[in-house]
Amino acid sequence: MAALSFPNPPLADDVVALRPWRKADIPQRFAGFSDPVCLRFSWPFSEPFTEAHVRGDLEEHERRRLDGREINLAVVDVAARDHVWGGASVYEVDGERSCASVGFWLAAHARGRGIATRTVRLLARWCFDRLELARLQLACAPDNEASRRVAERCGFTREGVLRAHLPFRGGRRDTVVYGLLPGELR
Ligand SMILES: CC(C)(COP(=O)(O)OP(=O)(O)OC[C@H]1O[C@@H](n2cnc3c(N)ncnc32)[C@H](O)[C@@H]1OP(=O)(O)O)[C@@H](O)C(=O)NCCC(=O)NCCS
Repeated sequence: MAALSFPNPPLADDVVALRPWRKADIPQRFAGFSDPVCLRFSWPFSEPFTEAHVRGDLEEHERRRLDGREINLAVVDVAARDHVWGGASVYEVDGERSCASVGFWLAAHARGRGIATRTVRLLARWCFDRLELARLQLACAPDNEASRRVAERCGFTREGVLRAHLPFRGGRRDTVVYGLLPGELR
């Protein structure tokens, strides 16, 4: 697969901008993602979670971008772009099938203001218009109410449950799958 290019100009609306991660973001990314809610709902689960994980993640993200598999962006304040609210990705990009998945997380202080909804809308529009995808998927834990609300607000349809989908804390966890097709984005 050809490398994925970062959206240029960066995706943004009146509140949120999505830009490439910078090394200088590592402390903010670590602080935001260390939150127990992020660790609980994200995969893979790393415990203890350290700044070394964050550095490794940024390197792995770049490898996956160059392979055309994934693009990761920092979710920042449009008016203060050094101020990191969270992260978002388009991953499992499959050019042959024209589909991908979207993922996101926010630091605790950035939640409850519609920032994730804005982020998913910006990414979904880019996926359909620029990557010309025919389907975007969002997968989350069944008890991740906030994530499910974000999916529904953006127009995703709940399509089903993948039972015992992931190893999780010594057992296995179900995953709820949502899908969005072009023309369904709200
Ligand atoms: C998921 C997440 C990004 C949502 O971000 P957000 O910006 O707060 O979301 P929004 O403000 O757009 O709204 C989410 C909706 O969920 C609701 N919500 C938020 N937290 C909730 C909670 N703990 N329980 C139930 N509902 C919740 C909000 O009230 C809102 O509902 P509404 O549509 O009726 O207004 C954020 O909670 C988060 O970072 N969670 C940890 C990481 C994570 O779960 N990532 C997703 C993995 S699939």
